[in-house]
Amino acid sequence: MDQVSQVREKIDIVGLISSYIPLKKSGRNFTTNCPFHNEKTPSFVVSPERQIWHCFGCGRGGDAYSFLMEYENIEFIEALRTLAKKAGVNLKFTSDAFSSSKKEKIFEVNKIASLFYNFILLKHQSGKQALEYLIKKRGLTSRLINTFGIGFSPTGRRDLSNYLINKKNFSKKDLVDAGLSYEKDGEIFDFFKRRIMFPLIDHRGNIIGFSGRKITDDSFGPKYINTKETEAYHKGSTFFGLNIAKDEIKKQGATLVVEGEFDVISAFSQGIKNTVALKGTAFTEAQALLLSRFSPKILLCFDQDEAGFTALKKSIPIIEKRGLSISVVILDGKDPDEVIKKDPVVFKKAIKNDIEVYDFLLDKLIKENDTQEASGKRKITDDILPLISGIQNEIVKEHYLKKLSKSIDTSYESLLRQLNKKEDEKKEKVFKKIQVRDRREILEEYLLALILQSENPRDSFTKSKDILSSYEFRILSVGKIFAEISNFSKEGNRFNLKSMSAILLKELLPSFDKCFLVPLPKFENYTKYEEEIIRVSKELRIFLLKEKVKKISTELKGKNTDILEIEKIREEITNITMQLSSQ
Ligand code: UTP
Ligand code: MN
Repeated sequence: MDQVSQVREKIDIVGLISSYIPLKKSGRNFTTNCPFHNEKTPSFVVSPERQIWHCFGCGRGGDAYSFLMEYENIEFIEALRTLAKKAGVNLKFTSDAFSSSKKEKIFEVNKIASLFYNFILLKHQSGKQALEYLIKKRGLTSRLINTFGIGFSPTGRRDLSNYLINKKNFSKKDLVDAGLSYEKDGEIFDFFKRRIMFPLIDHRGNIIGFSGRKITDDSFGPKYINTKETEAYHKGSTFFGLNIAKDEIKKQGATLVVEGEFDVISAFSQGIKNTVALKGTAFTEAQALLLSRFSPKILLCFDQDEAGFTALKKSIPIIEKRGLSISVVILDGKDPDEVIKKDPVVFKKAIKNDIEVYDFLLDKLIKENDTQEASGKRKITDDILPLISGIQNEIVKEHYLKKLSKSIDTSYESLLRQLNKKEDEKKEKVFKKIQVRDRREILEEYLLALILQSENPRDSFTKSKDILSSYEFRILSVGKIFAEISNFSKEGNRFNLKSMSAILLKELLPSFDKCFLVPLPKFENYTKYEEEIIRVSKELRIFLLKEKVKKISTELKGKNTDILEIEKIREEITNITMQLSSQ
């Protein structure tokens, strides 16, 4: 047995998944709310028998490896290492037998680059001005510099590139893949020049990219530039500082989210260590999902300007969808960094006095609009009702509707009507997007599910196959699985779903797993179960027959000379029509 299977055999998928999310027993399987998409009722199923998982909501599914890859956003090789460690299996492959993935290569070169930048900042003449800026102007210490791995990219056009290629044996391609260098007319150049370098590190400790701040505010270019999209770095996928903050976040049950790198560092220096930075954008769904794994509460402390307020409003529904509680920290000053520098105690008090986000918004809107005028009421409700409608907890939702009703002197019922109107509009839009699947496709999958979950799959398959001879499946994967089962049993194999699934083409597995796990209605006994298989097969056969009728009818139209042929086809039509009506 190869090591991949060996590790898979030793890992219990139920134990593995339940170490990340709580699972509930449900019949033969376990279920929970899917961690990969938003939902209120569980459609994520784990099968201990087959050691697989599947979500009926978003269609994702697979084995222990694919769960870990999806959940931790890692590559196969990393998942293998993690699971091998858990299983106590010593992986024997040499490093080139399992050549490291592109992403891992990026982590590797980024790591070396960050050490280079850090060396330049702390030890090299060319980092002197930057170091002075950090210490004198921004109040950093060398300890803080090292904690966050800060560095400086020198002024030369290819200082880093030359170092990595000549001294560390990386290829040009490695540097370009990592976004550290770019190529122009066959020459290679450093991407970051003359900037203070902040490594962007994911929660597992990998350096996925960098952000670089210029050291003089008057010089050319944006204040910060970030690594362009690479295989490892995607804008809005992580937070600055999460690797350092995550334990404290878990301990405190709350995350303080600020905008910038220096906000995080200042807060950290004052012992507020559960802080991460969004880096000047609104929350993405990926970021909300990521934080929901570490704490149930989020404190937002954005800059006290228009941009900060816009980011706040955009972030709320995204965080709320994950069911996290959200509060706002109000500052008397530009941003956390400035306030902390002025007086850390004031900042700590502000955190203690955080306000529930909906109270904050309501107060703000009421202050800014005339609550006695229709136009004011309209502005307030237009702004806040969509946010209130997104509140996951019905009691909290009602609480804010009542508060709003009092504040703008409008009946609760009117607010509710307006809210429902908006929700209906939203639902209609969503509904239009979801194409209702046709009955034939539903039946095809249902039939396969009935066969796979049958007490006697071979028998069920044979019964159905007899009825469905020459039927063409609308869902290709289901059709292919039928063909595979057919071949498999022809070759005289013992009918065993486990070995069946092992030889199945990879792309057919999700469909196979789905049908194996989908909840079926309860049947009184096996006879009733068999009857259902026959009924469904026959209904599908009708589709086949109707298609035949159609085909023959069109053939008839084109051939009115050959009497014999027409007679033959007519006969067939009568035949098929009789078959149809007898069912
Ligand atoms: P700010 O403009 O508020 O910067 O942007 P700041 O944090 O106060 O900057 P300092 O303290 O003067 O250094 C907030 C954050 O948005 C990102 C950076 O992460 C920044 O910290 N940003 C800002 C960019 O990515 N690009 C930019 O051009 C500006
Ligand atoms: Mn700022």
